[in-house]
Amino acid sequence: MSSTVISDIVTLVTNDPSLDGSPLGLVRNAAVVIEGDRVVWTGESSKAPATDNRVDAGGRTVLPGFVDSHSHLVFAGDRTEEFNARMSGRAYSAGGIRTTVAATRAATDAELEANLVRFLDEALRQGTTTFETKSGYGLTVEDEARALRLAARHTDEVTYLGAHIVAPEYAEDPAAYVALVTGEMLDACAPHARWIDVFCEKGAFDGDQARAVLTAGRAKGLHPRIHANQLSYGPGVQLAVELDAASADHCTHLTDADVDALAAGSTVATLLPGAEFSTRAAWPDARRLLDAGVTVALSTDCNPGSSFTSSVPFCVALAVRDMGMTPDEAVWSATAGGAAALRRTDIGRLAPGAYADLTLLDAPSHVHLAYRPGVPLVAGVWRRGVRAV
Ligand code: NIG
Ligand code: FE
Repeated sequence: MSSTVISDIVTLVTNDPSLDGSPLGLVRNAAVVIEGDRVVWTGESSKAPATDNRVDAGGRTVLPGFVDSHSHLVFAGDRTEEFNARMSGRAYSAGGIRTTVAATRAATDAELEANLVRFLDEALRQGTTTFETKSGYGLTVEDEARALRLAARHTDEVTYLGAHIVAPEYAEDPAAYVALVTGEMLDACAPHARWIDVFCEKGAFDGDQARAVLTAGRAKGLHPRIHANQLSYGPGVQLAVELDAASADHCTHLTDADVDALAAGSTVATLLPGAEFSTRAAWPDARRLLDAGVTVALSTDCNPGSSFTSSVPFCVALAVRDMGMTPDEAVWSATAGGAAALRRTDIGRLAPGAYADLTLLDAPSHVHLAYRPGVPLVAGVWRRGVRAV
């Protein structure tokens, strides 16, 4: 197996606290050694072992590839008009999902997959090396299973979200739709997914329905994660902790009891500032969660309705500017935090044994991700040890 050293890294973010005692595990004037698809060594450049190949980072920054632990990329169509109307004052509501459901059902497999690949390429060029993605714009047995089958060709982190909104055909009988989602649809979808999710919100599914969906999924071997407390206060976050969901996502409207529950459990709070940006909503309070000791992840929520960005750097900049995070915290949350939200230890960090998923930034440090918002700083990406950008 051939080995490669990436040397002359001015700032290396490892997320390996054993190196400097801080969560980011920073090393200055550093090198990373890759063998096959794994990291085998990190440390000061001058101490790097001999390797077959050498790449000069040219005094730039290397960090773990971003782990985008929340996206909705299997869809067709776009919702420019809805966004335009929102920017003229109309409020966001869960009902807009139906527009994308109609377009997605009408699309061919090839159209859906081409769309998915386009967004994955876009994300990769911005430093994302792992992404989770969901169904949820099909809402029939066949359309949900097809979305998951297509997603599973491109990632291991696939989430069944048949409970995104009540399917239009069941508008008068939501209980029958929940029975479908927890019955025949689950049976068709479970073989293609790792996770089960539910949009627990007014206009989508209430706490009892969400519990029914997640426990049915768990009985079929899927692990829960929840869209919780996005548009209003509600039972989602506490349900997430009770069911040991890997992640409660959005967490925009939280009571003290919600924060206490997250701090006491092992559910990660995944914050999605692209959604607040694009819906002109109040920001989630990352500082409050961090001060309470909650593990926070940052992700894009990329979807055509509430957050049409595939850019983790954009989300990092928003989190620092408007959500009370320091640049160090935001970068940790977008890498190690995302890995924690997917219950993974082989990604989101650069330490011996982890996957060689790395992003090279044309900047003297990771802080520039927030300091230079909107600037395309990503100068290289390695995925599983292979240069991809
Ligand atoms: O995470 N909250 C629910 N689902 C998406 C929005 C979906 C849409 O508007 O199409 C979200 O924000
Ligand atoms: Fe979402």
